Amino acid sequence: MAPASNKRRWSALLGLACLAVLPAAYQLLAQPPAFVPAHAEETLARCEALHKPAGPPDNFHDRTQSDRFVPGTPPTLIKNARIWTGLHNGTEVIEGDVLLDGGLIVGVGHFSSGELTAYGSLKVVDAAGAWVTPGIVDIHSHLGDGPSPALDGAEDDNSLKGTAQPWLRSLDGLNTHDDSYRLSISGGVTTALVLPGSANAIGGQAFPIKLRHTDERSPTSMLLEPPFTINASVPDPALPPRWRHMKHACGENPSRVYKDTRLDTAWAYRNAYNTAFQLKKKQDDYCEKATAGKWEGLGKFPDDLQWEALVDVVRGRVKVNVHCYEAVDLDDMVRLTNEFQFPIAAFHHAHETYLVPDLLKKTYGGTPAVALFATNGRYKREAYRQSEFAPKIHASNGITVLMKSDHPVLNSRFLLYEAQQAHYYGLADNLAIASVTSNSAVVMGMGHRIGFVRKGWDADLVIWDSHPLALGATPAQVFIDGVAQLDAPFVYPKPQAFQEVPRTPNFDEEAKEAVEFDGLPPLETSNTTEGLVAFVNVHSVFSRENGKIQLKSLGEDGDNVVIVRAGRVICEGARTTCFTDAILNEEPTVFDLEGGSLSPGLTTFGAPVGLESINQEPSTNDGVVWDALSKGDIPKIAEGLVRAVDGLQFSTRDALIAYRYGVTHAITAPVSYGFFSGLGTAFATGVSNKLQKGAILKEVTAVHVSVSPGDSTSVSTQIAALRKLLLSPPDGDTGSWFAKVVDGEIPLVVEAHSADIIATLVLLKREIEEKKGQKIRLTITGAQEAHLLAKELGEADIGVILKPARGFPTAWEDRRILPGPPLTKHTAATTLLEANVTLGIGTVENWDTRNLRLDVGWTALEAAGGISKEEALALASTSLEKLLGAEVTTDDSLESPRDMVATKGGDLLSLEAKVVGVISPCRGVVDFL
Ligand SMILES: *[C@@H]1O[C@H](CO)[C@@H](O)[C@H](O)[C@H]1NC(C)=O
Ligand SMILES: *[C@@H]1O[C@H](CO)[C@@H](O)[C@H](O)[C@H]1NC(C)=O
Ligand SMILES: *[C@@H]1O[C@H](CO)[C@@H](O)[C@H](O)[C@H]1NC(C)=O
Ligand SMILES: *[C@@H]1O[C@H](CO)[C@@H](O)[C@H](O)[C@H]1NC(C)=O
Repeated sequence: MAPASNKRRWSALLGLACLAVLPAAYQLLAQPPAFVPAHAEETLARCEALHKPAGPPDNFHDRTQSDRFVPGTPPTLIKNARIWTGLHNGTEVIEGDVLLDGGLIVGVGHFSSGELTAYGSLKVVDAAGAWVTPGIVDIHSHLGDGPSPALDGAEDDNSLKGTAQPWLRSLDGLNTHDDSYRLSISGGVTTALVLPGSANAIGGQAFPIKLRHTDERSPTSMLLEPPFTINASVPDPALPPRWRHMKHACGENPSRVYKDTRLDTAWAYRNAYNTAFQLKKKQDDYCEKATAGKWEGLGKFPDDLQWEALVDVVRGRVKVNVHCYEAVDLDDMVRLTNEFQFPIAAFHHAHETYLVPDLLKKTYGGTPAVALFATNGRYKREAYRQSEFAPKIHASNGITVLMKSDHPVLNSRFLLYEAQQAHYYGLADNLAIASVTSNSAVVMGMGHRIGFVRKGWDADLVIWDSHPLALGATPAQVFIDGVAQLDAPFVYPKPQAFQEVPRTPNFDEEAKEAVEFDGLPPLETSNTTEGLVAFVNVHSVFSRENGKIQLKSLGEDGDNVVIVRAGRVICEGARTTCFTDAILNEEPTVFDLEGGSLSPGLTTFGAPVGLESINQEPSTNDGVVWDALSKGDIPKIAEGLVRAVDGLQFSTRDALIAYRYGVTHAITAPVSYGFFSGLGTAFATGVSNKLQKGAILKEVTAVHVSVSPGDSTSVSTQIAALRKLLLSPPDGDTGSWFAKVVDGEIPLVVEAHSADIIATLVLLKREIEEKKGQKIRLTITGAQEAHLLAKELGEADIGVILKPARGFPTAWEDRRILPGPPLTKHTAATTLLEANVTLGIGTVENWDTRNLRLDVGWTALEAAGGISKEEALALASTSLEKLLGAEVTTDDSLESPRDMVATKGGDLLSLEAKVVGVISPCRGVVDFL
């Protein structure tokens, strides 16, 4: 027994070079010398080290220079900053200076000139009152392993060779040339945990990296505090081991790849953990004997290169990050942790964790954090119950909330946007900032050096152009290891209101319902009136006038009202004007907008809204059209262009959520993986079926095709087909629609990203128009490289719909994005608008449709004053509809024939506003949301 005291004695002896001393000691006892193998010292050191908990050594903060210091980096003083330090639960803010040297923060506060003269060549940066935070820490990234732009030769995220492979390392695939490093740094990201993919239950070891370029230019030199195991170097046995990291995944992803069920995956876990657990036991038994000097017949220390990492998990020395969504999967994992006694750092995606907080608290070794998306959900069954209120609900249960990118699933450049949304939906501001800085650092096991603005911590900081939780917050400068990352950043002043925490709406009731209805709260409108409604305290009204958006400011005094009857505005202006006796006698429903506004309902395009309920579940969707170009002729019986209107589903959760956030209409084209899409349609998002009044705004809007490399036919073949369809339309339905395009009756909408393809389309339009003698209406969607041809597009009168609104080099064809501030002064939107291109903003995925109002607001914000709010609203209403053939001829009998949305507390484009009502003249009602 008493192995602990034995161990202590051994370690004391080890410190005295025990091998020399031991034989003498045995001789003194006059007993035959025990057998002691040559490797005894090394092995005993190893046994001793097995029980050391991971983490920094006690004297870590005695360091005076970072191990990542870049010689020649000047000491830097950031003056006059509002510093969010991360301390005191994220509530500490210091107004003062930060001094950086040796790759470290050497002080926060105020420095005397005496202190500063010690730093000879001090670089001084005047923050002029700007917010400074620790660098953004992304706890879930595939940067470098999941390539951007995507290229088959660089896909190193998932191994398809087995279900449980703890021996794999994300480091081995880390590409240092990925386009994302520079972009993510420009969004303030300084550290990312690069996880293997989720195709395996145990995908392998993960590594935290710093995103900056290193002089060595190697993946290894990017690592933050790597474990010594990466090169089998022997650390000082007196030092504790460094944290290791591992990826696990449960549920659909690992199960699908191997055609397993959840039952099979759970067994794969138990089998792997049993292997590790047994090996650990062997090691512990071995060490117990070795430590007691019972070497006889003991042999070599039991180890296994494939399983050593998982053994370390069972020893509690690995931060395990588990991709895990549903209650069933979470329950499996929690049981596993208790069966094999290992802790979990965080559950990722974790879309149902907010429903099972008590289950999470049963995890072995303490409650894991949750690493969430703000609004990305419903893309597969396990994400169907995703809730925007999850961060708030978790915080109220005392569970640590992290926001993560899963880059490139979400572009980590905008990870802070996830925190802004979490804050909007109810997460406290201190926790929202911490969710992408200090808390993610701590959960990663790196809280001793990153995630805080604190003396002795790594000099990773961001100076922001606004409060970090304000929409569109953009770095003015980013430091990593004290090295400034942005050369000549483009920064412009933001309105003063953006320097404070946004005053976000109250969503307590909605959050309560999310839990009460097990993640599926009812979304249909339940409170509708045809009667008289008086919106009071209205600050502004944006309305559609002649294809444009006009702003009418009603004033700041809170005395202004808008009266609506049967879904139509009948009076707007001062109380005294609108509140006539007749109106008052009718006892209108009075609704206080608290300085909010009325705006046109937005129209979305791009995602298959109305055609899909759950993207990855074919049985819930309209499906994918037959592509005659790649598959050969469509069976005669189904000849013709497919009409999206025929496949519409109403009351999908994404459509209803979009409606609740101000998107009253959608334009959707048939889903296609090839050249032919079909005929688009425009419909209402908030109605329950196609037969309802106002459900279909326009049955057929435009002809949609796509020209893209990598499809089964070449780009030139696709262009040849388009030319033929336009110059000599075949007989039949397809031909008749292309004839309408040539006659200018209906727009041709071409999905294309590459500037080369877009240039070809410019020439093709010219060719058709010359040969046919009339103008055609052409709109390019996607269009990430369109800014390179802005002038030519303007001259050719070709419209553009940017999709997504903020570009990302997803593929080779869209790699030449214009990133906007702080990297470039101009954005794609400002460049195109300045060239007089008619512009719209589109959305790529269904879940994101609800954020259209923020995309539009952000587009205006990053235009540095170049785009007004009215112009911004037009990007997702009047201009978009015109470009897609969905403009509706004004019906004279209606003053304002289109839906308007009422927002409380701010205008539709802001993070302060809550959409509270939709005014529908077509249906003659007001919906209270
Ligand atoms: C941290 O902040 C949150 C939100 O403001 C608060 O609810 C929580 O009680 C705080 N925790 C501690 C330990 O102070
Ligand atoms: C091995 O890795 C450790 C930990 O990063 C590092 O300190 C050491 O220099 C590396 N050794 C070699 C030979 O690269
Ligand atoms: C409908 O909403 C209005 C405005 O909030 C409110 O005054 C009214 O009481 C609600 N009616 C019902 C039946 O909930
Ligand atoms: C855009 O249109 C405006 C107004 O018609 C005109 O003054 C300007 O020269 C045009 N710009 C370009 C680049 O064509």
